[in-house]
Parts: sequence; C-alpha cells; structure tokens
Amino acid sequence: MNVNGRHYRTIWLKEEDQKTVQIIDQRYLPHKFIIEDLTTVDEVARAIKEMHVRGAGLIGAAAGYGMYILALNAPQDSDKAFMGTLLEDSAKLKATRPTAVNLEWAVNRQLEAISSIKGIQRKIESAYQLAREIADEDAEYCRRIGEHGLGIIEEISHDKKGGVVNILTHCNPGWLAFVDYGSAAAPLYLAHDRGIKVHVWVDETRPRNQGARLMAWELGQHGVPYTVVVDNAGGHLMQHGMVDMVVTGADRASYTGDVANKIGTYLKALAAQDNGIPFYVALPSSTFDWYLRDGIREIPIEQRDENEVKYISGLCDSEITKVLLTPENSPAENYAFDVTPARLITAFITERGICSASEEGVLALYPEKRSLLKAK
Ligand code: MRU
Repeated sequence: MNVNGRHYRTIWLKEEDQKTVQIIDQRYLPHKFIIEDLTTVDEVARAIKEMHVRGAGLIGAAAGYGMYILALNAPQDSDKAFMGTLLEDSAKLKATRPTAVNLEWAVNRQLEAISSIKGIQRKIESAYQLAREIADEDAEYCRRIGEHGLGIIEEISHDKKGGVVNILTHCNPGWLAFVDYGSAAAPLYLAHDRGIKVHVWVDETRPRNQGARLMAWELGQHGVPYTVVVDNAGGHLMQHGMVDMVVTGADRASYTGDVANKIGTYLKALAAQDNGIPFYVALPSSTFDWYLRDGIREIPIEQRDENEVKYISGLCDSEITKVLLTPENSPAENYAFDVTPARLITAFITERGICSASEEGVLALYPEKRSLLKAK
C-alpha cells in the first residue's frame, strides 16, 4: 500500500544487502515513519515481542524471515550443529507471542522445508526462497480476500441505493497487520477504489490503540473516509442504525469457526447480533488452527505487561511521550485477545471465498485439511 504516494510492504529484504530484513517500526506510527534493520534472530524475536511488527499475517512473515536470518547465522561446520541451532533458536521465535497461530505455522513450515534438504548452502537458499514465498503468499491471499469481500459491500451499497456503507472494524486488520492489503481492510479498500461510498468506524482499540494509531493512519493514506470512536461506542452506533456491517480480522481460528481477535471483539459481535447487523471475519488460511476444536477453551490468550493498560502514549511537543493514567499502584490486567464463538459470526471471508463459520463451511473450502483432523 502507499505511504505518501510510495508503495511499501511491511517487511522486505534490503535491496543492497539480502542478509538484512527491513520493517516499518509500527511503535512510532502514526507520528514517525521509521524503518528498522534486523540482522539477527534475537532482533527479529524482539521486534515481534515488543510489537515493532504485529498482526497475525505480518508476525508469520517476520517469523519466516527470522528463520532465514537464523539459517544464515547458524554454525556451518556440520549439518548436525546447523540443524541443532536452528531447532533451538527457532523456539525463541515461537515463544515471542502465543495467540497468532501464523507464528508457529511459519516457523514449522521453514523447519520442515529445511530438514528435507541436503547440504547447508542449499538449506540456506531454501530458507531465503521460502521466507519470500510466505510473504508473497500473505500479500496475495489478502488481495483475494479483498475480491471475495467486495461483493458483500456491493450488495449493501445496492440495497442502500448507492448511499454510504458504514462499516465498523476493531483493531488494525489492515495492511500493517499483514505484508500488504490487509484482511478485513482489503474489501474496504477495493470498494473505495471501485467508487462505492464507504465510511469506516475505527475502534480506538485500547490499550495499544492499533485502531486510533494504525487503522486511522492507513485509511487516511488511502483516502478512505473514517471516524475514530472509543471502544465502547459500537453498541450505541449499532442501536441507532449507523453501522451496516462489522468486519474484523483474526489471530487464530478453530476449524469449527471460533475466532480469537483483539480484546473487545467479542463484545462487538454480541452487540451486532442484538441489533441484527452482519458480523464478518476476514482471515487467510494461515490463521486457521487445524488442531483446535474449541476456541474458547483451547486458544492461548496472550497477557501482556500491565503498564500497557496503566500508561498511554502520544505526541506532545513533537515528541512521543508516555503518561500515567491510573493511580501509580493500581493493579491492572492486560488480556490482549478474546474469543468470539462461531455462533455470532455471519461468515468468514477467506482467500478461497466466503463460508459459514462452522466445521462444514471451513472444510468445504479446505477439503485437503480433513486428513489433518483425522490424524489428531
Ligand atoms: O496485538 P496485535 O496488534 O498483533 O493484534 C493483532 C491484530 O492486528 C488484530 O487482532 C487484528 O484485528 C487481527 S488481523 C491480523
């Protein structure tokens, strides 16, 4: 997507040095646009954990590149030493964030490919190719999600005789959360590009404010009309006919249709159901956990530092500043995700098309995954 008219992805290899990964450091957005160089697996792990990069798809792509960096720096004197380091240090990447399944999916994909190849140089070459492939695939799947989701918006626009389609979203399921395009945002961008009138209600998404900081910035860069609202406004907007549809992303979905997404998503789904408003979840196949049946009981929910709740940061006199919100000694809990059960989801929008949020619906789109389920 474009930043001040120039096309960027969220992660790439440095043109003049293919051993350096470059990312947009999202901690500073929307106030500063900073590109960071990553050259070691520890740097990649820190970038994921401390959310320089974030969002399920981008975390997966960063893990793919992290494995390539790891392969580059692993001891090359014997295959055993090389593979031993790879196995040991890949655990560092996997341990960074627990909820987005794309992380372990990408690491495992790299490990499987590397193990199946003979010769260290060829293993490194394979890790390089696969890191690029994972990133390209993420972008392409999001592009397709945009095409599949467009029809839903077109239909609402048609019903409203070309009037503005008001769409509420939570967190940042945009291109910053992926390699390009975004998941839930992709249909919105495409609809806007095709001349359909859309307006996006952007939930601020406390405590890290991915809505207020990132979604708002992205939409603004693309020229899509939007309004930031506090996290608790959604129910009110829905009761007063100001929301035509809700569309969110996902960080991990069970094959039965339950979805973990940024904390607060569940409450939006409840409000949408109470008001008869369709609630869609857009996700690429890398976000399905094919080993997981019951989302509420089985999806690991990340708990982050309490200081993310107690403090808030923003721009003050041109500097990004952090201020304390609560009494200094307040206890705080920081659950980063919640699970929306399948029964509250109107449909999934995936790279293969639209399906019901159910085992039947998901497996009809991904029949090749049936064997994984049987193997459990
Ligand atoms: O904690 P984050 O910013 O990595 O959260 C992930 C998300 O961006 C959201 O939950 C998003 O809605 C899912 S789409 C990847």
